[in-house]
Amino acid sequence: MCGIVGAVAARQVSGILLEGLRRLEYRGYDSAGMAVIDQGQIGRVRRVGKVQSLAEALAKHPLTGTLGIAHTRWATHGVPNEVNAHPHMSGERLAVVHNGIIENFESLRDELIGAGYTFSSETDTEVVAHLLDREVSAGKSLREAMRAVIQYLEGAFALGVVHADYPDQLVTARKGSPLVIGVGIGEHFIASDQLALLPVTDRFMFLEDGDIACLTPDSVEVEDGSGQSVDRAVTRFEHGAGSAEKGAFKHFMLKEIYEQPAVMASVMEGRISDGHLLEQAFGVEAKALFDRVRQVQIVACGTSYHAGMIAKYWIEELVGIPCMVEVASEFRYRPVVLPEGTLFLTLSQSGETADTLAALREIRSRVIGTLAICNVPGSSLVRESDLALMTNAGPEIGVASTKAFTSQLVALMLTTLALGRRFGLSDTREREILAAFAQLPALLERLLALDPEIEQMAAQFAEKHNALFLGRGTLFPVALEGALKLKEISYIHAEAYPAGELKHGPLALVDKDMPVVTVAPTNAMLEKLKANMQEVRARGGELFVFAGQDQSLRDEPGINLIRLPSIPIILEPIAYTLPLQLLSYHVAVLKGTDVDQPRNLAKSVTVE
Ligand code: AGP
Repeated sequence: MCGIVGAVAARQVSGILLEGLRRLEYRGYDSAGMAVIDQGQIGRVRRVGKVQSLAEALAKHPLTGTLGIAHTRWATHGVPNEVNAHPHMSGERLAVVHNGIIENFESLRDELIGAGYTFSSETDTEVVAHLLDREVSAGKSLREAMRAVIQYLEGAFALGVVHADYPDQLVTARKGSPLVIGVGIGEHFIASDQLALLPVTDRFMFLEDGDIACLTPDSVEVEDGSGQSVDRAVTRFEHGAGSAEKGAFKHFMLKEIYEQPAVMASVMEGRISDGHLLEQAFGVEAKALFDRVRQVQIVACGTSYHAGMIAKYWIEELVGIPCMVEVASEFRYRPVVLPEGTLFLTLSQSGETADTLAALREIRSRVIGTLAICNVPGSSLVRESDLALMTNAGPEIGVASTKAFTSQLVALMLTTLALGRRFGLSDTREREILAAFAQLPALLERLLALDPEIEQMAAQFAEKHNALFLGRGTLFPVALEGALKLKEISYIHAEAYPAGELKHGPLALVDKDMPVVTVAPTNAMLEKLKANMQEVRARGGELFVFAGQDQSLRDEPGINLIRLPSIPIILEPIAYTLPLQLLSYHVAVLKGTDVDQPRNLAKSVTVE
């Protein structure tokens, strides 16, 4: 994920920009660069590799000046090298940094070449630099040029621009990629994440899609998408949000559960434009690789494996190609048969899980390509895979994985859509699915409001020694995940079954002391599931049901019911996970276990 920092001040800015880049290193990147305006000239330094390499280069060739932009690049168009690193320039007087993907860059590039511009990089960003230059050369101000240029751009972007003729103006714009303005006294800043600017300010203004802003040391002027001047509120940074601190929460796990609405937005940010997926987000080689995929093999462990199980339902339904899923510790040690055209997809929060890594290393030479869906940029899994899609969930500290799981599911749906396009999934269906996913942040907020009810339900589990979890279809892996959460942190023995399997064995366990947690959304499997619930009731089992809107399911003796709001079927696995996370959390708190660091478990399992 690329990172942007910019500053316009009365003091030297290169140190501020460099520190900002350091603070964005967690996002993962392959090169870094900076451009600063000094005495009517742009000085630029770029380096492949770490921000430290850029820092060493700057120590030898310092950039002085009070206006500048800087960037960490995660390659999407063109390999990671110095020429493709940002900032990109048009001529000697204009420099641009960009996050996101310009989808129509090829046609824009042809047009600009026709107009006499020469390109030095393979990036989509360089078209923005030349387009801006064309507008400025035609007599527009830098800000007017930005207004004109963003009308040409299709895709997602956050932009920061400086021009040697405007030595006290930093012009910025965003659509689909995050960008925040840092408000100082006699100085202003931009960044793709407020964390980058915390050493210089704690006051921030968040731009909305389509906004343009012009920053000087003393002013910030914002225009909305229609060119109207608008005020955007200035808010103070909430310490602890999104960081490795608990803030007001009693446990990291609870904080991470509550972060999920924001995380859902952050996985999608910069990857969707005008209702469709920007598949370049998967990396430079994505298109060529996806074109050759004929089936998918998913390998992962624990919670990540459960996410993979849900993806199997999605891929086989929406793409219509085979998808196999296996736990890494088994996969790596057996003679697997993989047909031609297999995409090997690993899922991991940490990116360092020994079994998953070993499976990747073992299989790499026998598949057409490897894709890692991961939360830690720069992790071994990301480095060693052909493609990587970051889940952008922020640090997950609680050993019990929560936000990492739901963010993996969003990333898996993006993968499903990228593949689906190649196998007849219509543009309309893709837009419908993405429109449903866009509702996730608001939907998860509503589900969090069920917390007090779930806490009450948890009281009935504290004295139990066993629990069964039931679900059908995509809700079966959700039941597995619910059972895993409960056993991990409350030490209650819990197992999950596809509900149809109940009478093939586990029904023998059911009696009045066996709580049976059932995820029962209103979908095509509900009637079947209800029959399974009857089987439980008939044996005196106590049901704890997370239900949809079907009114025939009611709270009554033997059935403890929590009703969820109406949820699009495609979102059910994500939505129904959240109450199960809260249930385990509250049971564990009641039992007084170490919620964030349960016994015998480690956050990152780097040994087999
Ligand atoms: C989840 O709550 C667990 N702590 C565990 O199952 C975890 O998901 C598993 O170890 C895989 O980890 P990874 O996602 O970092 O590869």
